[in-house]
Amino acid sequence: MNHCYQVFVFKDANFDLFQEDEQTSQKAKNDFFDRMIGLSNLPDSSSEKENDAGKDNSRQKRNVETNSKKVARFLRSYQYNLDKWRRIDGLSNFARETNITKHNTAVHTKTSLEFTKWLLKKQKIAAKFSLRGLSCDQTRMIKSIRKSSSCKEPALRKEKVRKRNRITAIYSKAKVCRPNEPTKCLMYEPGIINLFAKSRNYSELLWAWKGWRDAIGPKVRTDWERIIEIENIGARENNYTDEGAAWRTNYQVSNLRGKVEKLWAQLRPFYLQLHSYVRYKLKQEYGDHVNLTGPIPAHLLGEIWAMSWLNIYNLTKPYPNVNAFQVDEGLKEMNYTTHDMFVLADNFYQSMGLPAMPDNFWKYSMFTRPKNRSVVCYASAWNMGHDKQGNEDVR
Ligand SMILES: *[C@@H]1O[C@H](CO)[C@@H](O)[C@H](O)[C@H]1NC(C)=O
Ligand SMILES: *[C@@H]1O[C@H](CO)[C@@H](O)[C@H](O)[C@H]1NC(C)=O
Repeated sequence: MNHCYQVFVFKDANFDLFQEDEQTSQKAKNDFFDRMIGLSNLPDSSSEKENDAGKDNSRQKRNVETNSKKVARFLRSYQYNLDKWRRIDGLSNFARETNITKHNTAVHTKTSLEFTKWLLKKQKIAAKFSLRGLSCDQTRMIKSIRKSSSCKEPALRKEKVRKRNRITAIYSKAKVCRPNEPTKCLMYEPGIINLFAKSRNYSELLWAWKGWRDAIGPKVRTDWERIIEIENIGARENNYTDEGAAWRTNYQVSNLRGKVEKLWAQLRPFYLQLHSYVRYKLKQEYGDHVNLTGPIPAHLLGEIWAMSWLNIYNLTKPYPNVNAFQVDEGLKEMNYTTHDMFVLADNFYQSMGLPAMPDNFWKYSMFTRPKNRSVVCYASAWNMGHDKQGNEDVR
């Protein structure tokens, strides 16, 4: 079949069906899924009789139909159980990331390995189906279930999860301490975030940038390298050249690299101008520390990863006499609490037509860093499936 949609086209076309409003019940979603996997869309036997085909032809058709029905049933049960597994895995991972203890890490390691085992079992079954007579959606789903880059060897899978968990723990607990004030240490949140937002002191920023990396890099390096090795072993076992190739197939876009290169070529002239302009402005602030023909020192861009440059806007704004909006100041002036800020954000997204955050979000999310335990305090969004009552659980 060469008329199959690419996945993003398909999603766009059906976007309305996933909108959560009074009319879209869980049942409607299930019905939609049934249609997509082909459970409700197959011609029933009466319509087949009307179709007066030759004998061989109709037997062939029946075989095809049986295959499609078999696949539909498999997909339905797969989806149902996948939801359950995602929830079990999600709950144990959330319990660990909001409370890093030995016990919670052990529980998550176990559930995550069981989940992978289940996925591999289903992958084997999916590999046996013929693709004959399947709809585009069925074909895409079966292919996606077949696809895996997990290692066959359980010991390697276990090693990977353990090393991952160890890295998250190191990363989450990392701090930088001043040699003359060993008790006043900065964690990423809020210490380092605030320092990078406000400090314009070259050596202080350099100290924090380097100190934070020294607190993490050397400790995670060997684990990290080993994880990549294990991932590449799994990828090659599944006929990918490496894990990167396996990831890129998730986009289901042909010639992804070429397309990205083309986009980058379009963007590059603008990026170079922007980079030069910001470098010129930073030179005015930091003098000899910035070389007008070299790269920008990464710790001068207002964030420890140099990803968002928002915090140096006041150094770089092109029209200094035009007032910039001061979100922080505004929120403080209006006495916004953490909770108020989430409500504000929720209202903003609702104003764009997105559904309101469900009750479970307000009940279970971790909004601020707790004082008495280690947690992963980097902002993240979680889809935890549905709770026992069938309510959505996102955190
Ligand atoms: C953190 O996890 C431990 C189990 O390791 C548990 O006993 C404790 O109650 C948890 N703390 C919170 C606040 O959930
Ligand atoms: C520690 O050193 C920093 C940087 O050299 C300095 O700014 C700070 O005042 C010192 N603190 C103390 C308590 O001496």
